[in-house]
Amino acid sequence: MGEDELVIDPWGSAQSTDYDRIMAQFGLTPMDRLLLPEPTKLHRRGIVFAHRDVDQVLEAHRTGNPFGVLTGLMPSGQMHLGHSMVVEQAKWFQRLGGDVTIAVADLESQATRGIALQKGREVALSEYIAHYAALGLDPQKTNVYFQSTRPVVQRLGFQLGKRTNLNEFESIYGFSGETNLAHVQAPLVQVGDILHPQLDEFGGLRPVVVPVGVDQDPHLRLTRGLASKTNWFNIKPSSARGMLVSLSIHDENAAAFGQLPNGRVDRERVGHVFDRVVEAAERLGFSDIISSPKQGHVHLPSATQRDTHGLRLELLRLEREMGGLGLLAPSSTYHHFAVGMTGDKMSSSQPKTTLFLRDDLATVEKKIKRAFSGGQPTVEEHRRLGGNPDIDVAYQYMMYFFEDDDAYLAELNSAFRSGALLAGEMKQRCIDSATAWMKNLQERRDETAHLVNDFLADDSR
Ligand code: TRP
Repeated sequence: MGEDELVIDPWGSAQSTDYDRIMAQFGLTPMDRLLLPEPTKLHRRGIVFAHRDVDQVLEAHRTGNPFGVLTGLMPSGQMHLGHSMVVEQAKWFQRLGGDVTIAVADLESQATRGIALQKGREVALSEYIAHYAALGLDPQKTNVYFQSTRPVVQRLGFQLGKRTNLNEFESIYGFSGETNLAHVQAPLVQVGDILHPQLDEFGGLRPVVVPVGVDQDPHLRLTRGLASKTNWFNIKPSSARGMLVSLSIHDENAAAFGQLPNGRVDRERVGHVFDRVVEAAERLGFSDIISSPKQGHVHLPSATQRDTHGLRLELLRLEREMGGLGLLAPSSTYHHFAVGMTGDKMSSSQPKTTLFLRDDLATVEKKIKRAFSGGQPTVEEHRRLGGNPDIDVAYQYMMYFFEDDDAYLAELNSAFRSGALLAGEMKQRCIDSATAWMKNLQERRDETAHLVNDFLADDSR
């Protein structure tokens, strides 16, 4: 690993906000707001700033095909504003027609934070799911489950563990010889979390998107790599034109692909596999199909990059028919973190850095009054030089959480920058918005409290 390579530690308290560098190093794609249907404030304001393969989800939405959303929560501590951002995005995907699955990471929080499973369950329901309900997720289209009581996620993690090794964990997570093995097992279970909704008994093959903060990207890189490594068929652009489909032979498909134990090849068997690839291409409407088992590929000269997604799904279906897992690498979206109220990182263990969703209104007011300000030290200087809304917590929290009205926000921004709006006035605006938002949340929490159990999947009640 190069010296200036960045390693993100999803359990660490350091938080890299060098988003450009993260994007470049890990190959995230900038989010193109203009492509998004009914964008939320998080999208309109560029807070959701990057993605991997979100196109396959938007295409499913456009073509009326199913897609899923998966997110997970650590049932420890209290839920704060930062946690609500994923809920906002899950709601948006749900409005667009996605089904939502929520993993309660009780195994992870037991292993990495010492929270007993029973305690994790209580916290998940009374603190997290109660707020997911209040924030407006639809219980009819949401399934909450516990890692500890859904064996298939553990099994999948175990099974896919075979396709990675400690070197990969070292390079993805920065592990060393002292690393506790809980930090090896937890990511594998999380791989199971992310991939299992595609299994037939959990909704079947479809794109699944995972909205996260960049701190969780290591888990996505791991999961995407592992899913791809299990695939039986590869698709790549042909150097001539069109696309090539080839077989990816490994021990799980060697027999099905006619690789005999003595090292010889069962040509008839291979020919049959190629025929099935040709049929899959025909089902997609291709007529120009050149099958060359000897060269090891099926060539689709008229296929373009845009056909890749449909082709991949069809080949994953074929893989499943032939006995494979047929897993599609998950999509993901990434959001910026709101700054902590003190100007540092937002953290549940530092109550002054954030607003908890159960903070009372007096506490909310007090925290905002004391929040880090982007104003000048004196009124005179502020009037003369103007303030900086980019680092002003009151402004930032209206932008991230409390204020839906883009025009009002733009007004506050320019008034603050010009010095017309004072730091204290900005804080008062924020207190007003926050108070309205928190009051509404409290009311919704009371109204939806009885729905919490409706969110639970049948295996988790
Ligand atoms: N590791 C996540 C956290 O620290 C929780 C989690 C578990 C999760 N499984 C997940 C997040 C799947 C996203 C997707 O908060």
